[in-house]
Amino acid sequence: MIVPPSLRRSHDPVLPDGRPDAYSLGLDAYGNEEVYAAERSRLFHPAQGPLFVGHASLLDGPGHACAESDDRVLLTRAEDGEVRAFANLCTHSLRPLVRSRERVSHTCVTCPFHQWSFRRDGSLIGGRDIELSAEQRDRLGLVPFPSREWRGSYFCGAGAAGAAFAEDLRMVESTFEAIGRSDWLDFSDWSLVCTEDEVYEGDWKSFMDVYGDCYHVPPYHPGLASFADCSTLEWVFGESVHLQVLELSPEQGRRSPFYTSWFDGLRSYYERRGEPMPAQSVIWSAFYPNLMIEYYNGLRVISVLVPTGPTQYRNRVRYYVPPDMERLVPGLPAAILEAYGETAVQDRVLNETRHEGVAMAAELGLDVSTYFPNLTDPAPELGTVHFHAWWRQRMGRSVDGITVCDGSACDGSGCDGSACEDGPTLRR
Ligand code: FES
Ligand SMILES: [Fe+2]
Repeated sequence: MIVPPSLRRSHDPVLPDGRPDAYSLGLDAYGNEEVYAAERSRLFHPAQGPLFVGHASLLDGPGHACAESDDRVLLTRAEDGEVRAFANLCTHSLRPLVRSRERVSHTCVTCPFHQWSFRRDGSLIGGRDIELSAEQRDRLGLVPFPSREWRGSYFCGAGAAGAAFAEDLRMVESTFEAIGRSDWLDFSDWSLVCTEDEVYEGDWKSFMDVYGDCYHVPPYHPGLASFADCSTLEWVFGESVHLQVLELSPEQGRRSPFYTSWFDGLRSYYERRGEPMPAQSVIWSAFYPNLMIEYYNGLRVISVLVPTGPTQYRNRVRYYVPPDMERLVPGLPAAILEAYGETAVQDRVLNETRHEGVAMAAELGLDVSTYFPNLTDPAPELGTVHFHAWWRQRMGRSVDGITVCDGSACDGSGCDGSACEDGPTLRR
């Protein structure tokens, strides 16, 4: 066991006997206009959170920019480095201030329509040909959202600033520390090698369903499975975060030429650096609802989900490699991206067929469970179960015949109370 049991217990999903599908979301949860609208106001609302809104590489100097995950959020970075989040709305007459992917590097942002200007701290400087009292100026500053920075990632909403999310982040740090990989968390000096903006057909939850499913890796990703050993899978759960920790496979990537190049290239890379090769192949992390950071041996990937409707979403992806990798092992970054791309093409099929199948079952009016996870040790689909439990709790949706208990109104019946303090559990 590579992750201490004390770290693995905090938010492990609790399932009633014989009901591995207890948290499975109903057919009506996917591709549904009403559910999508509720998700926008409960899960993707920048005042609620925790919601990932951007990474330091987007705002690498003072200025203003639209959040990469949400055009409704304006991020500013001050001279002292502090990042703040605001509603991206001019307070004169509510027009968006900064457009998607626009970057403003002046000391203030000026709305073009009537030239109202706002500082990086959100305060209003003034507008064209208008006298404003000090009280009016105070009241008409940009509307702020609470926010938190962690390892170069910015999250906003009350949830981001709250104690539970702080605890989740501590859990992530503790896990990396416990396996001797704290250095993997900081990749601020790594080189950005490419970005992608991919459109997917389906409900955004299909992507998270697949991300929490390690069960498909051996049968459907032979190359990846010969690089990352799924028999070593360890889960770590927070309230709105999960981690999958996997070691390198003894197969050394041999079931795909790209993964073979990745594995062999890593060996050369560490030899040339005079360092032992880390035993881990990858730590996959998911921060619900919209961020995944993948810490591979030799690669970091940031994926941001941007839902654009009940049946479509974007995945914004950024790839980083160590700054000395190309110099020490020429061609290795390109080989790693080829390997990752091989798996990503397969995952697109998994994501889109999940949506296709759920939509088909709904159209046929079938009365079926939408997910029956494999929880046989090492429970390769426990991440999907955890995501479904989180979604139900946040959306206020109970499970058939079972109450989702957030601990706030627990009367103790059918429940020993032990899990309530740690998050949602079930009682019959
Ligand atoms: S809408 Fe921005 S200045 Fe009028
Ligand atoms: Fe996959």
